Amino acid sequence: MGLNQTIQEALNRHINEEFYASYLYLSMSAHCDSLDLPGFAHWMRIQSQEEYAHAMNLFDFVQDRQGKVTLLPIDQPVVEFGSVLDVMEATLSHERLVSSLINELYELASRESDYPTQVHLQAFITEQIEEEKTAADIIAKLRLIGEDGSNLLLLDNEMAARQLSPGL
Ligand code: FEO
Repeated sequence: MGLNQTIQEALNRHINEEFYASYLYLSMSAHCDSLDLPGFAHWMRIQSQEEYAHAMNLFDFVQDRQGKVTLLPIDQPVVEFGSVLDVMEATLSHERLVSSLINELYELASRESDYPTQVHLQAFITEQIEEEKTAADIIAKLRLIGEDGSNLLLLDNEMAARQLSPGL
């Protein structure tokens, strides 16, 4: 079964959302670098690459279903975030937004009886659980650390160890 027009348009919009997320986390990486937190800057750069991989996963899926990818303009991301805690809180709220967009997409695929899209999106739904948990865990650590600069530097070192794993 090929893609119907409604699902194709929704998938193209979601590809754009994943590219926007990639751009947003790259902007956060630049901001963390300006805060002199190279580990967080690295973590955000990897996060950005993972979002790029999510976009490309759907890009390939549309094409595998004999659909047509139509790339849309990517909005300018936020560029100022305040403290590193603000950055991670913005990450968590963005991941929650992405989760709700994926759930809506799944619901649409279900209404349209598009079973392959539903099956494909299940990995995205599972991935979002991990994405939200990871951001929430880092926020909890940052809250414990508070104003303690040396513990912040230890956490920054931990963040520097992240490696690319798109999760899908
Ligand atoms: Fe593409 Fe952060 O989920």
